[in-house]
Amino acid sequence: MCGIVGYIGNKNAFDYLIKGLERLEYRGYDSAGVALLDEELKVYKTQGKVKDLVHVVQDQNIQGSLGIGHTRWATHGAPNYANAHPHISQSGSLAMIHNGIIENYATIKKALENRGRTFASDTDTEVLLQLIEEIQEKNGVELYEAVRLALNEVIGAYAIVLIDQKNPNILIGAKKGSPLVVGIGQNKGEYFIASDATPIIEYTRQVSYLEDEEIVIIEKGELSIKTLENVEKTPFIQELSISLEAIEKGGYEHFMLKEIFEQPTSISNSLRGRFSPTELRFAMSSLIEYEDKIKNLKRIIIVACGTSWHSGLIGEYLIEDFARLPVEVEYASEFRYRNPIITEDDLVIAISQSGETADTLAALELAKSKGATIYGICNVVGSSIARLTDAGAYTHAGPEIGVASTKAFTAQVSVLTLLSLGLAQIRGAIGTQKLREMLSGLEVIPKQVESLLKECDNLCREISEKYHEASNFLYLGRGYNFPIALEGALKLKEISYIHAEGYPAAEMKHGPIALIDENMPIIVIATKRGHYEKIVSNIQEIKARNGVVIAIVSKGDNEVKALADFAIEIPDVEDALVPLLSIIPLQLISYYIAVLRGCNVDQPRNLAKSVTVE
Ligand code: G6P
Repeated sequence: MCGIVGYIGNKNAFDYLIKGLERLEYRGYDSAGVALLDEELKVYKTQGKVKDLVHVVQDQNIQGSLGIGHTRWATHGAPNYANAHPHISQSGSLAMIHNGIIENYATIKKALENRGRTFASDTDTEVLLQLIEEIQEKNGVELYEAVRLALNEVIGAYAIVLIDQKNPNILIGAKKGSPLVVGIGQNKGEYFIASDATPIIEYTRQVSYLEDEEIVIIEKGELSIKTLENVEKTPFIQELSISLEAIEKGGYEHFMLKEIFEQPTSISNSLRGRFSPTELRFAMSSLIEYEDKIKNLKRIIIVACGTSWHSGLIGEYLIEDFARLPVEVEYASEFRYRNPIITEDDLVIAISQSGETADTLAALELAKSKGATIYGICNVVGSSIARLTDAGAYTHAGPEIGVASTKAFTAQVSVLTLLSLGLAQIRGAIGTQKLREMLSGLEVIPKQVESLLKECDNLCREISEKYHEASNFLYLGRGYNFPIALEGALKLKEISYIHAEGYPAAEMKHGPIALIDENMPIIVIATKRGHYEKIVSNIQEIKARNGVVIAIVSKGDNEVKALADFAIEIPDVEDALVPLLSIIPLQLISYYIAVLRGCNVDQPRNLAKSVTVE
């Protein structure tokens, strides 16, 4: 969490920093701040969002061609002014921003206090900064060397950027566990640095992603990279492929709505060129390269968090259904601390939109250390998880900015569908006819999503108008629609703050049935092909208790329609393809309800999109 940005060049850094922070705000928005070096070092910060910072400084003439900025998701210390970044060292000379957690900060702080240092905040960041300054002063070394020595003493994760009043031509960054990318500007001596490429894309396409335990030094217009062991590295410069339009709202009121409506394209991009429904062939390099391994696989373990965990559950149904391989789906945070049994015959799949989620990354490292083959399904190209894996498939959904995941989810499910079918083919577990049906069905999903978005939008608004004041929602589904019930409930609670629970429909009678009354809307995903009769019985049980039913049904259904208060029709497709369609109205309902309740849809309270702390 936390977004960090820096600029060094010959223009005023302030505008770059503010624009960059706005783009990074999805990473946290508890406080915002910038530090600029002109004749002297000045810090401007505030509790709240970037727009609050802009408001606070509106009458000031802020100057400086070297600067850093930060938008915070609080970990150590309350989200107040004192804890907002940038932090300043005791002498007032150094300013630093940080994304991550310094785990041994308490011990270091105590030692620093014993040696006479005082602290202005409760943050772990200030501890690292004071340590750097102490080393710089005591050892009489250059800033780079002080940073290097200090980082050798800390345990934890960090992406940091520092500036120093005494060295007005230098910008230093370093990373371990949290991402950091450097942009090489078009003007000589101009560089950008940020948590991801979105603040950079407007100015340059030439970037270098830092590796863990690397320090970048930009001094007098030159870029150099060294490791924590003081070994010089040659910067690996690459070309960015994302476009500026992809990270802007494009006329939509919120990123989330834009991303919901982008799904016909994003699903299509996640599938493009990867299969042929006529030749029944897969063109996924991971399947081709690992064919022998796949034949001998004994088990698949999927690790993920949040929405990605829900797509993992769908992956379990798909892979067990088609490839007939046992699958376990694990919350990465539980898996990594559970002493799990992992063997060299296992394939461990990590699913992550950001590719940076700390728990997922750690779970994967654990699996790797036990000799399992590790596979990544990530959206962000070049992300930490993507780089760690032996093989993988990007989801190609494009940048997802809204904190609540929508298009990344359907892209993950699309890739998992392909993967399950590819595994099934290699293992000889699927017949030609079934494979043809599935691939032909998958090919038309983007078009069906496009029509569905148009057809159900008004009804979703109407339903939202009617129920947006409810304080509880229940979501029920069976089979492939059970993870969709979980995901629908998560979407609603994340952005509207309404309590919502997802349940397997049959479990309703073991608890949630006690909650049913005429005030709690119950969203039931009751499509034709999956356990239809059973779910109709569940709906009868709800209606017998005066419950309100909003049903997601297959086109042409009459039975559920007659029972439900509202019914939203989706195309009648193969059971295994239903999740890609049944989630669409649930995303829209969550969005409209949150808007009607006046919630900040793209930046829900307390959440962040990229969770780089455990
Ligand atoms: C956060 C986000 C969720 C996301 C989860 C996992 O909680 O708000 O939208 O599903 O992290 O993130 P990942 O990037 O690993 O998919």
